[in-house]
Amino acid sequence: MTILVTGGAGFIGSNFIIDWLAERDEPVINLDQLTYAGNLENLAELRGDPRYAFVRGDIGDRAAIADLLERHAPRAVIHFAAESHVDRSIHGPGDFIQTNVVGTFHLLECARARFSAMDAAGEAAFRFLHVSTDEVYGSLESGAPAFSEVHRYQPNSPYSASKASSDHLVRAYGHTYGLPVLTTHCSNNYGPYQFPEKLIPLMIVNALTGKFLPIYGDGRQIRDWLYVSDHCAAIRRVLDAGRPGETYNIGGWNELPNLDIVRAVVGLLDELHPRADGRSYGEQIVHVADRPGHDRRYAIDAGKIERELGWRPAETFATGIRKTVRWYLDHPDWLANVQSGAYRDWLEKNYTDRNR
Ligand code: NAD
Ligand code: TYD
Repeated sequence: MTILVTGGAGFIGSNFIIDWLAERDEPVINLDQLTYAGNLENLAELRGDPRYAFVRGDIGDRAAIADLLERHAPRAVIHFAAESHVDRSIHGPGDFIQTNVVGTFHLLECARARFSAMDAAGEAAFRFLHVSTDEVYGSLESGAPAFSEVHRYQPNSPYSASKASSDHLVRAYGHTYGLPVLTTHCSNNYGPYQFPEKLIPLMIVNALTGKFLPIYGDGRQIRDWLYVSDHCAAIRRVLDAGRPGETYNIGGWNELPNLDIVRAVVGLLDELHPRADGRSYGEQIVHVADRPGHDRRYAIDAGKIERELGWRPAETFATGIRKTVRWYLDHPDWLANVQSGAYRDWLEKNYTDRNR
């Protein structure tokens, strides 16, 4: 038995593969195009592991995917590959439509063709697990109940709209063709190997390199933060026991405003890696122009996955953020390597006009 993971060189995908092989012996094929967000260094510890194979490729390349499915006959596809950064989707939505919508469509077509050629036992075992986001539900008013699985879709950014579109395709392939699909909607993840364009690693890198810590708008936007290994455990649980056709919300019961997140990072850096001048990294915080269309609040009601599948997060925010800051401090080479010329171009594009 084998599973196929798409986007396994990115942040969550690489954590998923590492955790999977630490827990189980079932081999993993990692299909990844290696965009700016994909980094094989994340999987360096698996070099030489016979249970792991990497294939460079685009989920939209039908011939290559069909060949891969034919040769390896995976009993499940865990679909992480996506363009994943809201700010990039605002600057250039095209890649988001191409990978998240069109790419997912091609992947589904390949899975459908493969599924229709299976015998009854193969069909019964097969799963297509689509990793989606809470952002498809849009923004919550303060005090409104958290997102449940029946919350209406109201995506607000090109990123969330592209993920919502892919969710609809996945649902339709389950409903129309009987493909055994599962969809998960997770809140904001943090932890090792997250590319420093997202809030938490960006703040760590900027703090350590003496740059400003840019808070969009008033910094009171709320996200529900989940340590990445908890997300990986939830996906394994859904794959093992989720009912085909169902969707599961995954969250940390951990709603926090952005300013509190940044203050937590600053506090840990002050403790674990004090500034040479003895002052606080908090002095580097600046408020900058807000993100256009910025969603005010996300919150996940993770009651269904807890009731039906018995999953709950193992980490609190306090334990997870300490591990995360420690990890970045312990991996300066990884951090230096991802800050390429392309990374600096992104900082220029997103932040130069924003600084007030
Ligand atoms: P990421 O940007 O770190 O990684 C994405 C990976 O997909 C990269 O390795 C990239 O090379 C690969 N990829 C991109 N386009 C591809 C293509 N056309 N073909 C093959 N590979 C391609 O993303 P992430 O943060 O790890 O997110 C993974 C998934 O989880 C995404 O689907 C995202 O929507 C979802 N998600 C993320 C979060 C979060 O907080 N990061 C929360 C909920 C859901
Ligand atoms: P991000 O990590 O981009 O995730 P998402 O937009 O998918 O929630 O951003 C998390 C929150 O942090 C979001 O409200 C935007 C905010 N943010 C900043 O205030 N400054 C920044 O430089 C970045 C990247 C994000």
